[in-house]
Amino acid sequence: MVGGGAREHALAWGLSKSAEVLVTPGNAGIAAHGITCVSTSPLELDADLFVVGPEQPLVEGLADQLRRQGKVVVGPGLDGAQLEGSKAFMKEFLASAGVPTANYGVFSDEDEAAAFLSTMEPPYVIKTDGLAAGKGVLVTHDINEARDDLRAKLSGAAFGDAGTTVIIEEGLDGEECSLLVLCDGTRALPLVPAQDFKRVGDGDQGANTGGMGAYAPMTAMTADQVELVMEHIVAPTLDELSRRGIDFRGVLYAGVMLTSKGPKLLEYNVRFGDPETEALVPLYGEELFEMLLETGEGRLTKTPVVTKDFAVTVVLASYGYPQDPRFGDVIEGLGADGQLANPVEGVSVFHAGTARDPHGRFVTAGGRVLALTGVGASIREARERAYQAAALVTFEGRVMRHDIALAAV
Ligand code: AMP
Ligand code: GLY
Repeated sequence: MVGGGAREHALAWGLSKSAEVLVTPGNAGIAAHGITCVSTSPLELDADLFVVGPEQPLVEGLADQLRRQGKVVVGPGLDGAQLEGSKAFMKEFLASAGVPTANYGVFSDEDEAAAFLSTMEPPYVIKTDGLAAGKGVLVTHDINEARDDLRAKLSGAAFGDAGTTVIIEEGLDGEECSLLVLCDGTRALPLVPAQDFKRVGDGDQGANTGGMGAYAPMTAMTADQVELVMEHIVAPTLDELSRRGIDFRGVLYAGVMLTSKGPKLLEYNVRFGDPETEALVPLYGEELFEMLLETGEGRLTKTPVVTKDFAVTVVLASYGYPQDPRFGDVIEGLGADGQLANPVEGVSVFHAGTARDPHGRFVTAGGRVLALTGVGASIREARERAYQAAALVTFEGRVMRHDIALAAV
């Protein structure tokens, strides 16, 4: 398992039900949970299966390097990773594949961008072309804020090189869904739909973040709608990948807006979502390893698994997140294994950004600190368990949303 956040903690924990797991680099909470973490480069490790968590190493070509060594990998090569690495590439790809998505323009020149912006209707949507850890998107009704954002991105002041090309696109309205699809190069297997809460504040107020919580399955997304997304979004994408000779083995994460005109693709990610994965993994149990092995080996035989439980994940973030997170605050309520000192039934703690201080206490060490997942027989039960856990884990200035999955209850 490559990576060191809560997503990798969840995946490593899930895989460890049926396999011996090694995480590089991992983090303090994963190690405390009894999963071996090493700082060795993945290129110097041997394993039957490599699962790459974050986008950055994929965009840098890690999966290609591993495959050249004959390794089995979940994660696309450089070519497929461009679907996430460059939004301009993704939009051009979607157009040639015929995938429904928001109308858009791509700009590097401020005057041209401003002129295009003035032809758009609110809400205005401005995205960095390159990777920005989920924070490169502005959605606003305020034209002046949109103009300021354009300037900040294109000048390089806001996101460096990642922002010197921007996408301006049509604002879409509807419920959002994260549909994570395992792809083995030719076949595709959707996981149950999940919903992510991207804004930092309750009621979807405030800045975009990497994700403040999630739940799955998303009940508002019916089996028929999943079918529609598979047919109109995923299938043409697989066709286009194959036309371009791209052997995509990994997770194709479709960020979908369920508009009144049908599902439209907001974005592709080329890896497991974070925090969606912290909600999804506990629902799949021992199936996970085989599903991922089949994905990497290009021989997916599984049919969609119907999960009987629900999972709700609540993220605890550092004081100041997302703009200016503070590190080093002592976390109360965790035992030596990094799990709840006073366990709550059905709850797992996944560590995103934690470290141990010289006294061995867990302290905050990242923007997102912990992901608490409650599993239950209903969304209500899962949600109650997650928030019961959240009441037990505290640190100075903790940032948390109180309405994760509330509307779905
Ligand atoms: P992205 O990184 O493209 O998924 O964008 C991050 C978030 O911004 C999405 O999850 C949406 O909430 C919002 N967003 C992105 N594109 C649009 C759009 N065209 N219309 C409305 N909201 C959007
Ligand atoms: N939860 C959003 C993402 O993983 O990109």
